[in-house]
Amino acid sequence: MEVLESKQLKNYTSMHIGGPAAYVVAVHCEQDILEAAAFARSKDMPITTLGDGTNVVFSDAGFKGVIVLNKLVGFTISDDGLAQIAAGENWDAVVEKSVTQGFYGIEALSLIPGTAGATPVNNVGAYGQEISDTLVSVRAFDTKSGDFIDIPASDCGLAYRTSRFKNEDHGRFIITQITLQLKPIDASYVAPSYPSLASELAKCNTDQPTPSQVRTAVIAVRSLKLPDPNKVANAGSFFKNAIVSKDIADKISKQYPDAPIYSHGSDYKIAAGWLIEQAGLKDYRGDGFWIYDKQALVIVNESASSFDALKKTYQLVQKTVFEKFGIMLEPEPELL
Ligand code: EPU
Repeated sequence: MEVLESKQLKNYTSMHIGGPAAYVVAVHCEQDILEAAAFARSKDMPITTLGDGTNVVFSDAGFKGVIVLNKLVGFTISDDGLAQIAAGENWDAVVEKSVTQGFYGIEALSLIPGTAGATPVNNVGAYGQEISDTLVSVRAFDTKSGDFIDIPASDCGLAYRTSRFKNEDHGRFIITQITLQLKPIDASYVAPSYPSLASELAKCNTDQPTPSQVRTAVIAVRSLKLPDPNKVANAGSFFKNAIVSKDIADKISKQYPDAPIYSHGSDYKIAAGWLIEQAGLKDYRGDGFWIYDKQALVIVNESASSFDALKKTYQLVQKTVFEKFGIMLEPEPELL
């Protein structure tokens, strides 16, 4: 286990907001995690884990405990597509390896920032794929029992952009590995048919784009619409798309026949970026933040340094959208 000098959480999250942690340690293997847990116990402090911090924002108070930076690496895939991926692996590198080695199932999740271990926490999804489609199990250190356990995907509480790791078991587990069941690429492959991907895939001039072509198209679309968190401070989609009843969906589509509304089980999902744009906040600047001009779901931190300023900005978005549509948007990143 490596104890790091910088304790400012703004240095470990892509939104570049957050006060100090008591300790920040990097772990490279399961033994390091046991040491980190013993260290936290000796200090009588809580312990929690971070990957690349691309979907987490800490408050200005920071975290009075031990932050474990997950640096576990390793990737193996069997001939039938069972992939075992250490939690600290860069997610996009995992997608690239799986496609180039001849497997599909996560190609639409290309260029999603962050680490592999973070993907089940938020049940990441894009262009019609979600990690829940391929996740078999999660291996994790349980800080409650002090043991490593394997949690089947069915026990992870996965739903749209959420899981037990974000809710009732927030902070309890340090995820060390995920196991995915991918599929060997063959002629039966059908590319995801997602509206915002269609025009990019059409450039391939084929009815049956390959997983590699899907990956290329997703990278092109994401690069145009979403700011790179390595260059521009942001946490990806700042709000979840809104899940609403039929009544509200009908009311909105009557007034706006082109509104992006999709069925979602017995409810409807409305694109939150569209709601924010309709509420007049796309390209809004204030308190050091910018509602991104190419995708209003993203809040860019241009010059702010406090969580309070972020709160002011996202509450302004919530209030404005609520006043116009009667819909309360929920933040998508973990706000700690
Ligand atoms: N739209 C607008 N204005 C905007 C943004 C979007 O009108 O400013 C409209 C688009 O024209 C489109 C619809 O809203 O009709 C949906 O937009 P898009 O396809 O860009 O996807 P999204 O629903 O806004 C979700 C995910 C993204 C993911 C994309 C692609 C959530 C919260 N966000 O965004 O995930 O990349 O779909 O599948 O579900 C992330 O989680 O950080 C993230 C970027």
